[in-house]
Amino acid sequence: MSTQTLLLGQTFEATGNPFTGPWEEAVRVNSTGAVLLENGLIEALGDAALLRKAHPDAKVIDYGRHLICPGFIDAHVHYPQTAIIASWGKQLIDWLNTYTFPEEMRFGDPDHAARTAATYLDLALDNGTTTVCSYATIHPGSVDAFFEAALARKLRVVAGKTCMDRNAPEGLRDTARSAYEDSKALIERWHGQARLGYAITPRFSPTSTPEQLAALGALWSEYPDCLMQTHLSEQLPEIDWVRGLFPQARDYLDTYEAHGLIGPRAVFGHAIHLEPREIDRLRDTGAALAHCPTSNSFIGSGLMDLAGLAARGIPLGLATDTGGGSSFSMLRTMAAAYEIAQLRGTALHPSQLLWLATAGSARSLHLQDRIGRLAPGMEADLTILDLASTAAIAQRRARAETIWEAVFPTIMMGDDRAIADVWIAGSKRPRPAVSSA
Ligand code: GUN
Ligand code: ZN
Repeated sequence: MSTQTLLLGQTFEATGNPFTGPWEEAVRVNSTGAVLLENGLIEALGDAALLRKAHPDAKVIDYGRHLICPGFIDAHVHYPQTAIIASWGKQLIDWLNTYTFPEEMRFGDPDHAARTAATYLDLALDNGTTTVCSYATIHPGSVDAFFEAALARKLRVVAGKTCMDRNAPEGLRDTARSAYEDSKALIERWHGQARLGYAITPRFSPTSTPEQLAALGALWSEYPDCLMQTHLSEQLPEIDWVRGLFPQARDYLDTYEAHGLIGPRAVFGHAIHLEPREIDRLRDTGAALAHCPTSNSFIGSGLMDLAGLAARGIPLGLATDTGGGSSFSMLRTMAAAYEIAQLRGTALHPSQLLWLATAGSARSLHLQDRIGRLAPGMEADLTILDLASTAAIAQRRARAETIWEAVFPTIMMGDDRAIADVWIAGSKRPRPAVSSA
């Protein structure tokens, strides 16, 4: 007989989309909730007293007033940029040339890739992030290293080899043909193995020739259940550059569209400075966007219209964009999303922020049937939030009159100290050792 585990606490439950209708109808917190885990899955969700009675033999863990959430899902990261996070003083194109490309060059060394993948995934887990969708570098070995590290931790992740055949330094360029062949071999090796999925990954239009974009579009049509991830309309000088490189394109999105790189399994990072036609096409094709608010302010990119795009039904996930973003923490990222929306005149509700980092990101990665919600049959990846993790947060929480007032200080002021526990596929992750370095 398999063991059942019953987690008691306040449960964050989502049944709808809090951006396309009233949040009260989409999301709720059960302050006397419980989640029953069995065989790596969520077996039941409900009221603590009822589930205890129905499952008297289950091992009980009482999290008290902690908030039991689905594990956070980071919809757009670059794990190879872990060591250059918080690099000073540059905007996108200079930042890529000064910090990113030299660091990515190092991933030709499989040991460096393996070390960085391990460091990155452990930092993500410390911050309550149980799934990420990552870019690797142009080196196929950097994809192997990432998937091996995820496999060792039993994580559900998506990743892909970053493809670039122009406007990148020698040593970081592939070709249209090798990008196609290497990506295809990686798909055959990894896609669908354990909890791993592949994303075909042209970095962005400026670093791919039309021939490479077409080759990757053809590859996607051969493997339509893979994701396709890339960047879109992040900074104004980047958009001007794209216009010069693709004079015949109607807009930035068209550079992808013309090569078969749009569809419901596309995930476009940033998408800040969109034209009306691009918004219509995104909505009509069902493509998803990854909102990267700490990155968008850190690299000086601009204020994405999250609420406007989400209200139009475009699937949206939340993302750190490590290491263009300035934090590994999805709590910090939710806070940045709140602040950027405020600058655009919208106050996002805490339920919307938590939903974005869980169910919203899951939907953007087409993983909504497996992760992102507390519901029977979903994989048991969970993050347990301590809503009074620091003195500053605790004193504010003490004044809270509603559950959402109690949650919001942790969203705005919380970090890895708020992560009381992380569960991966039904097993509790041992608490990370406290670093003295
Ligand atoms: N555009 C193309 N590559 C990158 C990258 O690595 N980070 C960010 N933020 N934008 C990009
Ligand atoms: Zn990115």
